[in-house]
Amino acid sequence: MGGLPIIIGITGGSGAAIAKRCIELLTAHERPVLVVCTPAGQRVWQHEVGTPLRQWLRTTPARQYPIGDVAAPIASGTYPTGGMAVVPCSMNTLAAIAHGLSTNLLERAADVILKESRPLVLVPRETPLSVIHLTNLLTLARLGVKIVPPMPPFYARPTSMDEVIEHIAARVLVALGVTSALPYDQQYGNGLH
Ligand SMILES: Cc1cc2nc3c(=O)[nH]c(=O)nc-3n(C[C@H](O)[C@H](O)[C@H](O)COP(=O)(O)O)c2cc1C
Repeated sequence: MGGLPIIIGITGGSGAAIAKRCIELLTAHERPVLVVCTPAGQRVWQHEVGTPLRQWLRTTPARQYPIGDVAAPIASGTYPTGGMAVVPCSMNTLAAIAHGLSTNLLERAADVILKESRPLVLVPRETPLSVIHLTNLLTLARLGVKIVPPMPPFYARPTSMDEVIEHIAARVLVALGVTSALPYDQQYGNGLH
């Protein structure tokens, strides 16, 4: 495993499979992965993925920190990390990060990433978006946070949910700076047009 660890924060927004694929891709790129998940995130993961998060993580080299462990290394700016993605990002956690709250380890880790000017990527999942959601997104975008909504790549003519998830996860890695560009077939489809 090479390079600084990447933190994957998982919340109770819909889209746990995107977090799963991000962890798989980061591992494939030999990046250490540190996971922190809210209670709602664990519940939605169980509902959408089928296997409990903790059980699935045992099949990976990723390390999980308890949500209440505010003394974990990622709660401090002195611990070097390469960035963080909150995927999926609920509107609750979005609001907390936008307002500098640190009521759990995920929020604290994101606050640390911001204060240390490291890459922070959010995959917000809600529709429609209220003025409150949009204001919070704008606040964070102005701070340099990359906002990567889980948008299907219609132009690539995806034929399965897996293809959509693959595309969004690949975009998260680009936003984190782990990869430099989307593979060609994820930009324009598999040579179909
Ligand atoms: C199946 C399921 C799907 C959900 N999807 C979303 C969602 O897409 N976006 C969102 O903001 N909240 C969603 N929620 C609600 C959040 O889980 C809830 O607001 C929770 O308090 C978020 O807490 P957290 O930010 O600590 O994870 C969903 C809840 C469930 C049970």
